[in-house]
Amino acid sequence: MSQRYRIAAILGDGIGREVVPEGLRCLRAAAEAHGFELDVVEHDFACADHWLRHGAMLPPDWKDVLGGFDAIFFGAVGWPEVVPDHVSLWGSLLQFRRGFDQYVNLRPVRLLRGVRSPLRDHGPGDIDFRVVRENTEGEYSNVGGRIFEGTDRETVLQETVLTRIGVDRVLRYAFDLAAGRPRKHLTWATKSNGISIAMPYWDERAAAMAKQYPDVVADKDHIDILAAKFVLRPGQYDVVVASNLFGDILSDLGPACAGTIGIAPSANINPDRTWPSLFEPVHGSAPDIAGRGIANPVGQIWSGAMMLEHLGEPAAAAAVLAAIERVLADRPEVLTPDLGGPGTTEGLGTAIAAEIAWAG
Ligand code: NAI
Ligand code: MG
Repeated sequence: MSQRYRIAAILGDGIGREVVPEGLRCLRAAAEAHGFELDVVEHDFACADHWLRHGAMLPPDWKDVLGGFDAIFFGAVGWPEVVPDHVSLWGSLLQFRRGFDQYVNLRPVRLLRGVRSPLRDHGPGDIDFRVVRENTEGEYSNVGGRIFEGTDRETVLQETVLTRIGVDRVLRYAFDLAAGRPRKHLTWATKSNGISIAMPYWDERAAAMAKQYPDVVADKDHIDILAAKFVLRPGQYDVVVASNLFGDILSDLGPACAGTIGIAPSANINPDRTWPSLFEPVHGSAPDIAGRGIANPVGQIWSGAMMLEHLGEPAAAAAVLAAIERVLADRPEVLTPDLGGPGTTEGLGTAIAAEIAWAG
């Protein structure tokens, strides 16, 4: 009996509806070539349409509906003409991340063959690091409020929430990750010179964790210079761990340095495996190009490779990534416009799926 995995697919809005089918095409090719089975169930919530019809982004029983799947394969949510972005994001994706305790957001940053970095003098292999972002607390709390609204005294307050459990577990994940990589180098992002209560605490916990990992070379950078160094010397990083807000920014900046955000993948991981983890491209629903069939599907497909890795199919995961690299390097005629090519979403997805099948 071959392994069988149950996957919940959520297409979402905009180009999510175009790139998820290409991701599934490649996952099915990998399953076929590597001898496992995928049961994919598509769900039509977490999108503007659902909000229009039901006045909510999700059905009330979403946790039961999704909780039994082995993983969630997610496109992108957001259609600001219809639903304000904070409503669509808090009403869906952030519910998944918190409800399923996906406390690690992992984003690989790799400059692949066939992709030109916007940074001068950087070629394939020169940039290869991982951003580990805390995904459930920190600056993205909804603790706070407004008082004296509409008056001169109008006052707005929003708190950062750091818990010892929350900080330690994401640091531990990052240190474990660094310990398993050849360079064994970890950098933590901080801003303890400006944010004088929360960030010194983050530094304290990171320094304590570093003591438990004598093999890992650990250092810290303040977020401002860290952002600058991502651009100036991205090759020096190996694993970068950051709070929710800092990690969010770094994990868009990193992939941008490695080409286009159209190829960047991410994993929202529940390392305890109590709940399904969620795999999605870094990009959003891109209303500006939605419906034209030109969105780059590579971020979605690479997210699928991360999902296979998480499910315990590392050979299939590596094969998907290798197929992506070969097509990007050798098939300029199928590349989408963001990569400087004349191709389409479906054409690029089909080429990568064929490569996966061919390589077996
Ligand atoms: P975006 O990532 O959707 O688009 C930014 C720019 O990158 C646009 O010019 C877009 O055309 C381009 N782009 C993005 N993905 C691409 C791809 N695969 N191929 C080619 N070009 C691509 O970010 P933006 O414009 O800030 O947000 C649009 C909507 O997406 C908003 O509603 C936002 O809330 C939502 N969003 C959702 C996310 C999620 O579901 N995880 C993440 C980020 C934004
Ligand atoms: Mg972001």
